[in-house]
Amino acid sequence: MLLKAPSRPDLKRIVVINPKGGSGKSTVASNIAGFLSASGHPVALMDFDPQGSALRWMQNRSDKRPEVYGISACEHDTTMTRSFQMRVPLHIKYLVIDTPAALQAPDLAEFTRGAHAILVPALPSDIDIYAAARFVSDLLVVAKVSRRMGRLGVVANRVRENTLSYRKLKRFLERLSISVVGELRDSQNYVFAAEQGLSIHEMQPSRVSKDLDSWKSVTNWLEDQLETELTPRDLLKPKKDLPAGPATPEQTDKSAVRPKYTDTVRFPGSAGRSPATPRTPGFEPPLPGTTRDPAK
Ligand SMILES: Nc1ncnc2c1ncn2[C@@H]1O[C@H](COP(=O)(O)OP(=O)(O)OP(=O)(O)O)[C@@H](O)[C@H]1O
Ligand SMILES: [Mg+2]
Repeated sequence: MLLKAPSRPDLKRIVVINPKGGSGKSTVASNIAGFLSASGHPVALMDFDPQGSALRWMQNRSDKRPEVYGISACEHDTTMTRSFQMRVPLHIKYLVIDTPAALQAPDLAEFTRGAHAILVPALPSDIDIYAAARFVSDLLVVAKVSRRMGRLGVVANRVRENTLSYRKLKRFLERLSISVVGELRDSQNYVFAAEQGLSIHEMQPSRVSKDLDSWKSVTNWLEDQLETELTPRDLLKPKKDLPAGPATPEQTDKSAVRPKYTDTVRFPGSAGRSPATPRTPGFEPPLPGTTRDPAK
């Protein structure tokens, strides 16, 4: 991928990332961009999604709304240089990055290094939970994102309370020693907001009161992160360049072959796990849908 996430000392980056397709990256990214813009911040939304969902959201946005500056980063526009295409105007102080599905491992650090906030939306289904657990592990092991700095937050998306999958997701999230920064309802309000180029925060409050409640913890967490200065740890570069390939922890183990996130996932207990799988100390992905749950 032709990547070079823009960096500037006064530009705060918020990265929405999960290689699993359809987890809600574009929805979360556009809602954050709309929220920041409606709060009076100069914000740009950079779209790496080949489907251009975030850019479509911006096209749907009325000129009368506070500006969200759009940057298409997915395809190289041959009429200009890549750096010109990716430029962020100097008045922009917040950059929300909507990342594509099926990211490759070497791109993870490029996207996340030096970000003020890294948000991972995750859906409450067995396959999505498992993929999210592995991905969080990748961020920690491969991209060297620090849990301690608190920059990494999971957003449980399309949550329907009191369903079995919701309870599984809760159990998984509780076991991760990273912040669960919010739980977003499964609601047609998000579909409507996308069609209008709005964030939930810009809709009729009486219509979206439950959604506004669920966003409160996300925006509080986000504001804390944006106010916290980056440290050298946030800028740490992984030691060696990684070979191209799917972003999984096995990138560090050349002998191990694992499916991409988008492939069918074999759960532990169904002979799917390589014994050579490296682990983050203190991090154990959950075993959704199995009776061999070590936490029990
Ligand atoms: N909380 C929600 N409630 C209802 N619908 C939602 C919610 N979140 C996302 N959706 C819908 O789910 C679909 C996928 O969401 P979205 O495009 O944000 O996912 P994505 O992770 O960006 O997908 P991709 O990996 O393809 O880029 C969209 O149609 C979106 O409107
Ligand atoms: Mg998307």
